[in-house]
Amino acid sequence: MVEQNDDFEEEQILQEIEGRLAGFGRERSNLIPILQMIQEQYRYLPKASLELVGRHLAIPSAEVFGVATFYNQFRFNPPGKHPIKVCLGTACHVRGGDIILENFERKLEIKVGETTPDREFSIEKVACVGCCALAPVALVGETVHGGMAPSKVEGLILRIEVENEMRQRAAEKEKSA
Ligand code: FES
Repeated sequence: MVEQNDDFEEEQILQEIEGRLAGFGRERSNLIPILQMIQEQYRYLPKASLELVGRHLAIPSAEVFGVATFYNQFRFNPPGKHPIKVCLGTACHVRGGDIILENFERKLEIKVGETTPDREFSIEKVACVGCCALAPVALVGETVHGGMAPSKVEGLILRIEVENEMRQRAAEKEKSA
């Protein structure tokens, strides 16, 4: 069921993208601006959109994909409701940012750039987010969590899951009232 909704949503996104492509000329130099437009609009590049872009610019979609993967700014999965960004800037890196990242990957059973099947969480790595004094740092949505340690990863995820459940229950209670 969830998959059907996802397919429907992606279908809609592709239709919109097709419309937006009409606003771009067919020169190759438009490739990056188009990819940036899609990423900005939908926060990821649906795989099928790369084919549309390729067709619009008369470039093989494998080449479009190659260009998109070359740049770190593009992601290929929709972000989760709780996007986790692990800072791997210098200060965070020397204080074990990569170990924090590994722990999130292990706990959520996804790799960096991926989203959990329930779309709750996604993981990204980012460069310095400007609060090096708190290194190592991870962000959940816009909230900064400083002084991260591998042992804090599980607790953080658990807290989000509990908050989700409480929100759901409150919504159900409201509905049935
Ligand atoms: S390096 Fe991570 S906040 Fe600066």
